[in-house]
Amino acid sequence: MRLAHGVFVAFLALVPMACKQGEGPASSLLGCAKELSGGIRPIAQTRDRRFLGKVQESTARCRGGENAAQRRDVPWVDWRNYYATGNEGSKSFWSFRNFRGVNGALIDLEYQRAELIKFNLFDNSGTFEQYMTTRDGRTGRALKTWREMRLPPSHPSFKAVGGDGPQLCRGNLIRARTLTGICNDIRNPLMGSTGMPFARNVEFETTFPDAGLTPITRNRHGDRLSLLTPDPQVVSRKLFTRVQTDSAACADGHGKPGYAKDANCDYKKAPFFNVLAAFWIQFMTHDWFSHLEEGHNSPDFMKVGCASQKMNGVETPLSPADAARLGCRPGDEMDKSYMADSTPPPRFTDGSREHWGRAPRTSRNTNTAWWDASQIYGYDERSRVRVKRDPADPARLLMPPLPGAKTEGERQGYLVTLDPKDPMNPEWAGQEATGFPDNWTIGMSFYHNVFAREHNQFVDHFRRRAAQTPDEDSGLRDPSDPTRVIRYRDVGADELFEAARLVVAAEIAKIHTIEWTTQLLYDEPLFRGMNSNWNGLVGKETGVSAALEKVVEKLRDSEKGDKANTWYAVFASGPGIFGLGSRKPGWSVANPDDVNGGINHFGSPFNFPEEFITVYRLHALVPDLIEYRELQNPNEIRNKIPVVETFRGKATDFMRERGLANWALSMGRQRLGLLALHNHPRFLQNLSMGRL
Ligand code: HEM
Repeated sequence: MRLAHGVFVAFLALVPMACKQGEGPASSLLGCAKELSGGIRPIAQTRDRRFLGKVQESTARCRGGENAAQRRDVPWVDWRNYYATGNEGSKSFWSFRNFRGVNGALIDLEYQRAELIKFNLFDNSGTFEQYMTTRDGRTGRALKTWREMRLPPSHPSFKAVGGDGPQLCRGNLIRARTLTGICNDIRNPLMGSTGMPFARNVEFETTFPDAGLTPITRNRHGDRLSLLTPDPQVVSRKLFTRVQTDSAACADGHGKPGYAKDANCDYKKAPFFNVLAAFWIQFMTHDWFSHLEEGHNSPDFMKVGCASQKMNGVETPLSPADAARLGCRPGDEMDKSYMADSTPPPRFTDGSREHWGRAPRTSRNTNTAWWDASQIYGYDERSRVRVKRDPADPARLLMPPLPGAKTEGERQGYLVTLDPKDPMNPEWAGQEATGFPDNWTIGMSFYHNVFAREHNQFVDHFRRRAAQTPDEDSGLRDPSDPTRVIRYRDVGADELFEAARLVVAAEIAKIHTIEWTTQLLYDEPLFRGMNSNWNGLVGKETGVSAALEKVVEKLRDSEKGDKANTWYAVFASGPGIFGLGSRKPGWSVANPDDVNGGINHFGSPFNFPEEFITVYRLHALVPDLIEYRELQNPNEIRNKIPVVETFRGKATDFMRERGLANWALSMGRQRLGLLALHNHPRFLQNLSMGRL
């Protein structure tokens, strides 16, 4: 069956109109006519037929004119060449061309999303066989709950969610973020909680090419690819090292004594993004995932390269002189990763072929996978001890002002440092106390202090309102007693603390999706796409969005697997997240379907895939030296402060000495590093880690 695909039907209906009304060279219109007469591309049935961002010549011509048609030969996706999808110069005088360009790009992106959902979900927690086959007569891709996502009898909340019977989170478990991330999906309590296995984006048997488990991995990679092949230190030195015009001025990222401003470490700068944005994404990753436990890997150590390089196609041992020239270190060792399961995976057949039930080796997310601000608030009992609440008002985070704080900002205070009695990696001593303290520098100190202040601002505002109108409805509700109006005066400190966390987590998710990402991927289709996550492509509260909401609901509840999933992905971008049940008339916290509204996991429970974490190691974003400025004279660079000089507890001292506002100015005025070769921070290639 040929499936029609676009962003959604109403939108597709507009495309012919757009093509017919477009003005300009006949060739572009002819392209539109050809595109229409050719019918709509079906969603691929097999992964080798998938859409790779390359369209027909006529389609390219319709959406981007001759320029797009001619640039189909380059390996990159075509939509970047459509009308109005790049900078000002990509815009046409004719608005309908721009319409075709931007919406054509969205259609391409939607195809890729639909096929990613179809071909790239590989859950490692034991549900994959169900996904590929059927369970209780239901096709795997339409499954909504899994045995593997139930709380086990040993879990303290086992009884509360229904014990051995059907499990459903309710009451306090759905009132706020839970510490370990359980009950985010109220019918799959364990999903995304601390300690669940990371997923994969590619077929399990291809995940360790060196194991040679398939003919493709054997033929394509042979013995040429494994953890230590090619040699990681040699790759780093040859391909990542930032070339310096004046090595002495950089000193491997250590700058000059006294933070002298004539220090300089060259790096390739992105034209449109600042250093705050670099640390923002590190701050996000600390919310989403970690392979490490308390900042360390397993107790087993291993050598990590600087052993050989390829010479004339032959792997040749490095001589001491080679190592010195490259700058790598043959003696370096590091602690091996923790593994969750390295036993032989179960296998099954789906009729036509044999599959692996999980990857040959899996690892766990030691954090909650949710966007729940767990880097601030903690993700297990141990990390929660590090989160300090204000004894004077336990709804607040403890942030005493420094002596002599003068400005309004400074009076909001700074996070306290870790107590020697706190559970922690000894290397973290002297740092601010927080849920996730690893790899701390001035950037992490900045964001943790900013959002802790934001938490307290919310609490203070709430308290002011409570003082003015103690008997008014606070707007909060308790799912255990949903009709009870909770007055301001009735709200306890713990309830308010958790409400503030909900607000902070929501702010973070919104900043990331519609401010950070739209600035990183700086073009109109991505701007529309990211905003549509929240508000929908058709905007709020229209007849079209209401109709789409109904369709999306039906598709979500469909048992038809693949087809319904694909259509769901397509239509859901119409109403966006706000349209998916959250503004339904009569919405009630007492109704589990309302609370879980909008959820569709496409047959595969959620966790981050290992591949995501690999590509998010965006270290090239970080400069070696921060160009430090002060508010009194913002155009003057006063110092060049090495990021490495702010590593761990030193960040805390720098933050307090120089103040949050000056750091905001400095990092906000400096460009971050481009994601390119030869652009890795020198200091990160040479970072001295206490544990290694
Ligand atoms: C000065 C700033 C930074 C420092 C000192 C730092 C340090 C480190 C270190 C030492 C590791 C290795 C951990 C290990 O496997 O042993 C690591 C991993 C990682 N870093 Fe960074 N990093 C910084 C900035 C960033 C930024 C800006 C990003 C951007 C997203 C980032 C993303 C990651 C990711 C995704 C990992 C892998 C984490 C995991 O496997 O669980 N880091 N970082």
